[in-house]
Amino acid sequence: MFATRSTQLIRPARSVQGSLVLPGDKSISHRYAMLAGLAEGVTRLWNFSTGADPHSSLACMAALGASVVADPVSRQVTITGTAGRFREPEGSLDCGNSGSTMRMLAGLVAPHLHTFTLIGDASLSARPMERIRRPLAQMGAEIHLTGGDGAVGGHAPMRIVGRPLTAISFEAPIASAQVKTAVLFAGLQATGTTSVTETIRTRDHTEHALRAFGATLTRSADLLSIPGQQHLRAIEATVPGDISSAAFFLAAGLLFPDTNLVLDSIGMNPTRAVLLDVVTALGAKIRVLNVEEHHGELVGTIQVTSDPKPRTSGGPFEISGSLAAQLIDEIPVLAAIAPYTAVGIRVRDARELRVKESDRIALVARGLRAMGAEVSEFDDGLDVPGGQRLHGASIDSGADHRIAMAFSVAALRASGDTEIHGAEAASISFPEFFCALDDLAKR
Ligand code: S3P
Repeated sequence: MFATRSTQLIRPARSVQGSLVLPGDKSISHRYAMLAGLAEGVTRLWNFSTGADPHSSLACMAALGASVVADPVSRQVTITGTAGRFREPEGSLDCGNSGSTMRMLAGLVAPHLHTFTLIGDASLSARPMERIRRPLAQMGAEIHLTGGDGAVGGHAPMRIVGRPLTAISFEAPIASAQVKTAVLFAGLQATGTTSVTETIRTRDHTEHALRAFGATLTRSADLLSIPGQQHLRAIEATVPGDISSAAFFLAAGLLFPDTNLVLDSIGMNPTRAVLLDVVTALGAKIRVLNVEEHHGELVGTIQVTSDPKPRTSGGPFEISGSLAAQLIDEIPVLAAIAPYTAVGIRVRDARELRVKESDRIALVARGLRAMGAEVSEFDDGLDVPGGQRLHGASIDSGADHRIAMAFSVAALRASGDTEIHGAEAASISFPEFFCALDDLAKR
């Protein structure tokens, strides 16, 4: 995936202090990029994610006929859409390391009457794709996966032969915003009204983004309905800062008694902001300095300080059920700093972590043990007791951005230095991470 592997040395810190503006949210950037590519007109986006993943989505939109101009310094992206008519790409659509790109794009391109081949790196090529193939096939899509027995296990490379699609009623068998999005993107272009029922509510950026681009979509309780054959029009938008990237600094803030961080313009969408309640329960004090709404997304500035009297009894903090689905990207860093908390953490119902960019349950357990922590691994989670002391260690990111960053944070309170091998993976979602950490960690 990366030409060179790099190692970062993380020294222990005394505290974390200062302010940070986070690059744009990865999930929202993907959706704006894709819908802008399909829409009619010129979309202008500010604070677009600097991560490699949303740039994979932009490159796919360019290959499908959109005109894309991205300025990496100003984080501004201009996309002239295809007005609903993707062209047949000359080569494969390279989704890089990005599961979001591959799964959501499949729904977007499936009704266009061309042939598309979606490829990814080694990690993405091992991730499950049957979850999107099945509902899209019910709508009439022709999708060929590689490997698997047809029931489970099929993966990229994925070949899609475009066909006209018909609406379905889909009951989501797993809590996945990516799968929901693939079906909604296909439903937007199908004949009839597609409905999606999700019993565990997942992030709803797709719903907000579709409405922002002019689509009609309704929700009643856990049922979403989208009429087909709709046309989108371009937007101008600023992408809120990424709360999942902020999570690394919120977690770092839990490690010290005199934390003082200001995180500017971060996305506080209620389907993501539950993280703020969790870090509060684990010992942070959060003041919301202001909140605004843009295209349905809440954006705010928060100040994070240490709670002088954190909870010290009553058992581990539990992340399970719908909380596990909503915190799926933040569990690695919460588990990595859990040994330093008073009560520790218990994670269940998070089996999905095993099929992310790496097996995140296994890698978190391995990294914590390397740092001297006691941890129990379960099929669907982890138990990490609190009140532990860790030492510096040599950690392999497993080419997974969130593992590289999670253990960089855990290293701040360890005794001795920690080496993070495969640190370059952080650039998948947060290329500025190590600079920001260096700036905010006081030594
Ligand atoms: C994402 C949804 C989540 C998350 C991923 C981004 C999205 O995946 O892990 O980083 O943007 O919709 P699932 O929906 O597959 O759980």
